[in-house]
Amino acid sequence: MTACSFKIKDTSSIVSPGLVVFRDVMDANLKEMLREAGDLSRLRPHCKTHKMASVTKIQLDLGITKHKCATFAEAEMLASAGVKDILLGYNLVGPNIQRAVEFVQQYNDVQFIATADHESPVRSLSAAMQASGQSIELLIDLDSGQHRTGIAPGDAAHQLYRLFEELPGIVPGGIHLYDGQNHQTELEERRQAVMACWQLASDFRDTLEADGLSVPRIVAGGTGSFPVYASISDPALELSPGTNTFFDNNYGLMFPDLQYTPAARILTRVISRPTEDTLTVDLGYKACASDPDVKKRVVFPDLPDADPILQNEEHLVLRTQHAGDYIPGDELLAVPGHICPTSALHKSAYVIENEEVTDNWVVSSRDRWLTI
Ligand SMILES: Cc1ncc(COP(=O)(O)O)c(C=O)c1O
Repeated sequence: MTACSFKIKDTSSIVSPGLVVFRDVMDANLKEMLREAGDLSRLRPHCKTHKMASVTKIQLDLGITKHKCATFAEAEMLASAGVKDILLGYNLVGPNIQRAVEFVQQYNDVQFIATADHESPVRSLSAAMQASGQSIELLIDLDSGQHRTGIAPGDAAHQLYRLFEELPGIVPGGIHLYDGQNHQTELEERRQAVMACWQLASDFRDTLEADGLSVPRIVAGGTGSFPVYASISDPALELSPGTNTFFDNNYGLMFPDLQYTPAARILTRVISRPTEDTLTVDLGYKACASDPDVKKRVVFPDLPDADPILQNEEHLVLRTQHAGDYIPGDELLAVPGHICPTSALHKSAYVIENEEVTDNWVVSSRDRWLTI
């Protein structure tokens, strides 16, 4: 946690609603991520939270060489920032099969890995890779109970992994496991649930290895499960938190044991005071993620009683006893409930250092595609 004042001396250049990143706070979060990981060679942070080449370069400068993403735009952003080891933790289907071929061709000095959980796209990928004379590493995506993607460990998963070994153009790269279902607030409860997932993955690894298959890595987890996976000593294990680089309010509430502080916030301005006890600010759902309930989309540390009662595309109406203290043009800093989709709604972020705006970071991979 950091003791940042979250003050900005001169806000006149900030177009609202504007994403602002407090650099010292982000640096402290990165330091905490390294501390939790113990050894930075085990880290493979997910860039979905920031989607920014500037942040990726800071992570590279810290010595974090392995990175994770969910889209080809993010993969391209990582590669152009200088990352040489990229996991696209998303199953490739449709045009993404040919995009994988193009990516491997264009960034031939990058180790590019993807995930898969079904034979059909793996066969298509193998044919496409073989036709272009290239190959790609695949991680088998294990379903540890979230039931979002993945295949349960067992015979079918074993056969699929064997297929990775047999098909031309495909190289078995190990196991991928994202346990987003593990959001227990009690650390001990979370620890038990995460350890059960680890047991599934490591038992499955043992079965594959006993069958002569190579399992070079197991990429596991997000921010909530990170402290538990980090406590496991296994040379194959890679840790893939994403949210902790910026962090957000809802993870803070869900995981009180984590020592991170929301670094990315939104500067918003009062545009109207429609009634005695309401304020309207320019913070609609085109500027903050709307996947949480309206009551949990943003909080205002300087206006703790602000109760969001209506949000439209460009408006947020707050009920507060302090409405009379504000006039149109006054500013507030909002802490997003869910930062990852929030950053995707902004073209760039204002960087704040020593209470000054010092830079502007482009959210380069918020789009669906860049060049590939
Ligand atoms: C596949 C995958 N890996 C890693 C992460 C990072 O998790 P977190 O946001 O909890 O840090 C996510 C987040 O959604 C994810 O979907």
